[in-house]
Amino acid sequence: RGMLALLFCGASLALAPLVGADVCKDTRMYRETPPAGQPFAFNCINLVPTSGKVLVTWYKYPSKSPISKNAQSRIHQEQNWILFLPLTQEDTGIYQCVINYTNTCHRIHVNLTALRKYWYCMSGNSQQTVSDEYQQILHAGKDESLTCYLNFPQSCILDSITWYKDCKEIKGGRFTHWGIKLSVSNISAEDGGDYACQAQLTHTGKKYTVLNSITVNIKTHGYAGRIPKIIYPKNNSIEVQLGSPLTVDCNITDARDNTNLRSWRVNDTWVDDYYNESKRIREGFESYVPFQKHIFYTVNITFSEVKMEDYGHPFICHAGVSAAYFILKLPAPDVQAYLIGGLVTLIGAAASVTYICNIFKIDIVLWYRSAFLPARTKEDGKLYDAYVLYPKPQRENQSHEVDTLVWKILPEVLERQCGYKLFIFGRDEFPGQAVANVIDENIKLCRRLIIIIVPESPSFDLLKNMSEEQIAVYNALIQDGMKIILIELEKVRDYTAMPESIQYIQQKHGAIQWSGDFTEQSQCAKTKFWKKVRYHMPPKRLPPSSSWGAKCGTPGIAH
Ligand SMILES: *[C@@H]1O[C@H](CO)[C@@H](O)[C@H](O)[C@H]1NC(C)=O
Ligand SMILES: *[C@@H]1O[C@H](CO)[C@@H](O)[C@H](O)[C@H]1NC(C)=O
Ligand SMILES: *[C@@H]1O[C@H](CO)[C@@H](O)[C@H](O)[C@H]1NC(C)=O
Ligand SMILES: *[C@@H]1O[C@H](CO)[C@@H](O)[C@H](O)[C@H]1NC(C)=O
Ligand SMILES: *[C@@H]1O[C@H](CO)[C@@H](O)[C@H](O)[C@H]1NC(C)=O
Ligand SMILES: *[C@@H]1O[C@H](CO)[C@@H](O)[C@H](O)[C@H]1NC(C)=O
Ligand SMILES: *[C@@H]1O[C@H](CO)[C@@H](O)[C@H](O)[C@H]1NC(C)=O
Ligand SMILES: *[C@@H]1O[C@H](CO)[C@@H](O)[C@H](O)[C@H]1NC(C)=O
Repeated sequence: RGMLALLFCGASLALAPLVGADVCKDTRMYRETPPAGQPFAFNCINLVPTSGKVLVTWYKYPSKSPISKNAQSRIHQEQNWILFLPLTQEDTGIYQCVINYTNTCHRIHVNLTALRKYWYCMSGNSQQTVSDEYQQILHAGKDESLTCYLNFPQSCILDSITWYKDCKEIKGGRFTHWGIKLSVSNISAEDGGDYACQAQLTHTGKKYTVLNSITVNIKTHGYAGRIPKIIYPKNNSIEVQLGSPLTVDCNITDARDNTNLRSWRVNDTWVDDYYNESKRIREGFESYVPFQKHIFYTVNITFSEVKMEDYGHPFICHAGVSAAYFILKLPAPDVQAYLIGGLVTLIGAAASVTYICNIFKIDIVLWYRSAFLPARTKEDGKLYDAYVLYPKPQRENQSHEVDTLVWKILPEVLERQCGYKLFIFGRDEFPGQAVANVIDENIKLCRRLIIIIVPESPSFDLLKNMSEEQIAVYNALIQDGMKIILIELEKVRDYTAMPESIQYIQQKHGAIQWSGDFTEQSQCAKTKFWKKVRYHMPPKRLPPSSSWGAKCGTPGIAH
């Protein structure tokens, strides 16, 4: 009947993943035989390849409710660990670890058997079960180490590790403590035997004792003898800023059955001892990846903050007889940063000069003309400086303004004050000439074309109000490349109503907006508006300021 029950039990266990309507992949069963009566922890996360965000849930088969996550509970889950504080024999059973990550689910089974262990030194009973993982090998004639395997989550504080051999505490001599390791130098056959390591574990204020027994065998022959290889560091220097944190890995490959001690040392002292007070520099826990013939170890050294005294001294990674160091160096001043800084300053300076030039461009050009241009303009076969083209608006007041501007103000400022010569239709043609001829002939004699624009009044249409000849002419002029000055009598908001040629000129050269009143007496060539016009007019030296009249007050820089 017992047999049947076992069969049934086995069958139901085998069927469990199928019966459960979930899609978790079952992995093989892991066997764990820890001793009862002391803390035990197991982490399943490294048993399957995972990545990204991982969710781990522990169950005790066949219960469907997860193990408690309450840290006060004797059995509870902590991060990915299941933690027994302490383990009892009743905890024996199958535990399931369900790992969920990005659409994948693994279920790991752990067959946990809590063994009743007697530590022979205390009970006087030398009968004890020693599992394989607590067997370690040392090689005669070498310097090697034993490891106290204490796998617990970070919330468990482990300290006061003591080592025993054949029931006696190990102290001094050829033995040195290195954290969870015991280093043994000049190993001899007598070093074999029963060892134990004991540690104190503190969790949420409660103290426990962990005791691991280790069977040590000494090998005298067939020692692989391979010297551990330090892949990094390579006696190199590392540039690091003063005050910054730093972590350096020591990467080592070593033969599988070598039990070399790996450690970081400074001034021939283990860093954890050298900085035992400040704990500024610490050695990290060793991690390893086993390969077929060798094991890849990584043990890092962490500087919480680099200090001046660290520079120039070697920090040495030891692995058995091998050693390699790194030296810290202050970083060289960053030449590139200076270069970039200088460049940025230059570009900034250039940009501000350009900006200032743009603001004062007109003043600078006008000043240059007045200072350096000869009084007489060069002979270019032209008779006039500008041809003035203007519409005849239908609205009374606009018509009056255009007339005032063209007939009175332009001649006053540009001709009398500045010495330019204008061609104004209706003033300068010879009597009796045909209109078309007047325009055609005289426009060729002008250096500039000034077009007066009157803004969109409903009745205003440039095309309608300019003679066809005029339009034909200025179209030709545009193609000729003669410079054109647009003067808006008022701000023109919508150029799309204008002929395309005007739109084109406006886009290419912009327009100058009239400012000031329409009294002939108050005009002065030194106002902003007239400076803009003069800037676009042909270069010309101004006549002496006496001709400017009293209207301009004291002469400005343009003189
Ligand atoms: C894990 O994934 C399985 C299958 O996708 C799902 O049935 C289960 O509810 C998940 N468990 C948790 C704790 O999210
Ligand atoms: C669990 O392991 C024990 C031995 O430690 C074994 O007797 C038992 O059959 C195992 N249980 C399962 C379900 O594999
Ligand atoms: C190593 O031990 C042997 C005896 O076991 C001894 O003769 C030898 O001097 C020791 N070597 C060192 C370097 O201590
Ligand atoms: C050392 O090995 C670890 C793990 O493979 C790797 O991440 C790290 O980059 C290595 N460091 C150096 C300095 O080679
Ligand atoms: C090592 O010792 C020397 C002299 O004893 C000392 O100057 C130096 O600072 C020490 N190295 C470190 C890293 O402290
Ligand atoms: C640090 O080590 C020194 C020398 O080994 C020792 O005197 C001192 O007591 C230690 N300090 C601590 C806090 O362990
Ligand atoms: C250094 O090693 C420890 C393990 O002791 C690890 O937790 C830590 O992340 C490592 N630091 C770096 C920067 O790799
Ligand atoms: C680094 O220096 C150590 C001595 O400290 C030496 O034994 C080792 O061969 C050197 N390694 C390299 C790669 O130069």
